[in-house]
Amino acid sequence: MTEAEILFAEVLGCDRMSLYRNRALPLNAEISKYIGTVLKRRIHGEPLQYILGKTEFMGLEFKVEPGVLIPRQETEILVEKVVQEVTKSQGHNAISLSLLDLGTGSGCIAVFLAKMFPAAKITAVDISEQALRIAKQNAILHGVDERIQFIQGNLLSPYAVRRTQYDIIVSNPPYIPSWEISQLQPEIAYEPRIALDGGEDGLDFYRKIALTCGRCLKIHGKLILEIGFGQLEGIKNIFQKNKNFEAIEVIKDYNNIDRVAIIEKR
Ligand SMILES: C[S@@+](CC[C@H](N)C(=O)[O-])C[C@H]1O[C@@H](n2cnc3c(N)ncnc32)[C@H](O)[C@@H]1O
Repeated sequence: MTEAEILFAEVLGCDRMSLYRNRALPLNAEISKYIGTVLKRRIHGEPLQYILGKTEFMGLEFKVEPGVLIPRQETEILVEKVVQEVTKSQGHNAISLSLLDLGTGSGCIAVFLAKMFPAAKITAVDISEQALRIAKQNAILHGVDERIQFIQGNLLSPYAVRRTQYDIIVSNPPYIPSWEISQLQPEIAYEPRIALDGGEDGLDFYRKIALTCGRCLKIHGKLILEIGFGQLEGIKNIFQKNKNFEAIEVIKDYNNIDRVAIIEKR
């Protein structure tokens, strides 16, 4: 859907096709004033998702607000890969699956996977209190709040995380090099820096994850990570140096960019 379609479908309370089929859509003074306000904010660069307070991810609606990263389409590839890996190793029921979502943000990954695998034990960590508040609201929205343990903390440092061994740790960590953030499109300035900034070369979080994740993964457990453009070699270097991990499998996105790295625990 284009942004115009999303906006008009939202304010008129109809689906995309009705915008084209229904020639008598109820545009009144209140609605046109609202559209005017939205357009002004949009022209200043504010992302439409923040203006509307929601977005779509894997076909589900998620609440978002400034301070919480807007889920991206690329991350759907990460989630699809997790689904494939779980189904391959545990079947569709995934009764014994224990999974950690590191840096959960809006909770889009954890919530989708909790819906997909109703018997799985899912933990979601974020350092941001605001992100966790929204993630919990999204879990309630989708009826999976009882099934996800939300923990505030720095990566794997919370006690409940440190002492657990997971089958899968999934993460879309901050991975944009610090210097690059100010050069990206103006919408990015509205998003929380803490969700984007991966340090000087963008790889800080992969280094931290490589150092600490080994002990929290079961043998043959998998680390499934979203990665940024041109980062594969750096990430391979980080994980190949660490004796906890086996070789890396890489999945490309629809633009042929390396997007997901799967790393197995020895
Ligand atoms: C790129 S966003 C991903 C959000 C969400 N998982 C998604 O894919 O849309 C990274 C997330 O990591 C969180 N984060 C940043 N530093 C962290 C840390 N040291 N420990 C835990 N979470 C952190 C941010 O608050 C943010 O929500």
